[in-house]
Amino acid sequence: PAAVIVAIDGPAGTGKSSTSKAVAAKLGLGYLDTGAQYRAITWWMLNNGIDVDDAIAVADAAAKPVIVSGTDPAAPTITVDGLDAAGPIRTQEVTAAVSAVSAVPEVRALITDLQRSIAAEAPEGIVVEGRDIGITVLPDADLKIFLTASPEARAARRSGELKGKEAQATDLAATREALIKRDAADSGRKTSPLAKADDAVEVDTTELTLEQVIECVVTLIEGAG
Ligand code: C5P
Repeated sequence: PAAVIVAIDGPAGTGKSSTSKAVAAKLGLGYLDTGAQYRAITWWMLNNGIDVDDAIAVADAAAKPVIVSGTDPAAPTITVDGLDAAGPIRTQEVTAAVSAVSAVPEVRALITDLQRSIAAEAPEGIVVEGRDIGITVLPDADLKIFLTASPEARAARRSGELKGKEAQATDLAATREALIKRDAADSGRKTSPLAKADDAVEVDTTELTLEQVIECVVTLIEGAG
């Protein structure tokens, strides 16, 4: 059978990563976290003293870092110039800067090319999650899903993740404000904003458990194949 390409988009905190990883593992597909790639280039910019609000400086430097993503859903990896970036790309500093960097057209062009070549090389197929996968990166995907959830549910999930991962004091209200701000920036940018493709299936995860969302997406993929 031909490789199956699945695009999963939506704002932060809707369960994209957990769902995509689990679905890919269940169906023997590859997995690509495109947000991690934008975080990785942002981390490199911060480390190299580039002002992330200077779009020209970001564009000039965009081709310098070498970003490599591993697509095994059981153990996804990301490196920048050979350095493990999985931990450092999740800091609040990177999270606060990533929307500015990812809005720069030169950054998007480079990362989009990288994403397309990774998807083309996945032998069994791949689940690709992000913001613009269904519309821009892989418009011919076999299945497009758009995940949504209420701002309260998204903030609660994200705040739970942060507490588990790092001993950062995270206040729910502050998490909610930061999420809303980031989504507004991602939805409002000129190049490839966060948006639902016309042919995407929208799944509201507010009242669903992770297991229910996984089951729903698996059923949709089996139906699409
Ligand atoms: O998914 P995650 O929250 O890790 O994404 C981090 C950021 O990367 C998003 O807020 C957005 O600015 C950017 N991004 C993007 N396009 C994608 C995936 C992520 O612009 N396809």
